[in-house]
Amino acid sequence: PIPKLHEVFGSYFDVGAAVNKVTIKTQQDLLRQHFNSVTAENEMKFERLHPKEHVYTFDDADRIVSFAKAGGMAVRGHTLVWHNQTPSWVFEQPSGEQADGEMLLARMKSHIHTVMSRYKGSIYAWDVVNEAISDKGGEFLRSSKWLDIVGEDFIAKAFEYAHEADPGAQLFYNDYNESNPEKREKIYKLVQSLKEKDVPIHGVGLQAHWSLFHPTKDEIRDALERYASLGVKLHITELDISVFQHDDRRTDLKAPTEEMLELQAQRYDECFKLFKEFSECITSVTFWGAADDYTWLDDFPVRGRKNWPFLFDTNQQPKESFWKVVNAADE
Ligand code: G3I
Repeated sequence: PIPKLHEVFGSYFDVGAAVNKVTIKTQQDLLRQHFNSVTAENEMKFERLHPKEHVYTFDDADRIVSFAKAGGMAVRGHTLVWHNQTPSWVFEQPSGEQADGEMLLARMKSHIHTVMSRYKGSIYAWDVVNEAISDKGGEFLRSSKWLDIVGEDFIAKAFEYAHEADPGAQLFYNDYNESNPEKREKIYKLVQSLKEKDVPIHGVGLQAHWSLFHPTKDEIRDALERYASLGVKLHITELDISVFQHDDRRTDLKAPTEEMLELQAQRYDECFKLFKEFSECITSVTFWGAADDYTWLDDFPVRGRKNWPFLFDTNQQPKESFWKVVNAADE
């Protein structure tokens, strides 16, 4: 029999997968077997839950929560405040002029309260603010409507509203390029300053959209150490390992090469050994999908290129990466 991932890592951390309204059907059996946590890939984002000021659309999100409950799985909520996938009405007055800070904060509060109250007791952790840090050297926060209109305080406010809405929820700041040394320090500085101000923040989410050699193992370890030193929980929130190296833009591959699969397996082995080392802080490891039949990386960043980033292949069967990860649990 094939070992179950969430059982194999049960004494270390939850093992999760991002799901969507399609994959809870097409990957149902695989999800039930191996994962004990889910995150909605798009269905809980602002534009999907709250397309107009007085209109909330919870059906797809509710279906995902029911799917999880029926399988005894935990749910991570993704995401409340982000520069992306947020409808333009949020930042506008009825006249069409830009909203002011007071109006925007009132909308943020009402969105957070409505969404978190609905899922109180069903969603135990939320990515409250997503990707607020800039990737540009010398720039701290990313330019966005939230920042432009409210100022830096929009981040603290989001966490305060979230804590009011559900005092029992674990509240995360989530970002990508999280292991890049320069961005790591900015994330560290943000979370440290929130903690100094007694803002209710409980964890850092490392998205972990990685590839075969990037970031390096040392960069990942340094990032885990640095964030752990903040005394917060760590979640790996969106793990996938692209089989393409940075300069490889081939679109003609119909299947991954043997070499790619071998390197990917070594990479997964190295990552899970690191996660185990940090399992006092890491309480959840979520993949941004489950099997290679569906990944957001298809067509990204190169149109027409398929990718194979997971532990299960396009037929949802275990890859060499899967066996490496399972063995890493006992080593
Ligand atoms: O649903 C519409 C469909 O009606 C329309 O016909 C089609 C045409 O483009 O678009 C569909 O929406 C797409 C949506 O995914 C659902 O598939 C959007 O175009 C597409 O942009 C969107 O991409 C999502 C992306 O976030 C948007 O930023 C990906 O699925 C999702 O995996 C990705 O997830 C993000 C995390 O939230 C944050 N971290 C990075 C991660 C990967 O980019």
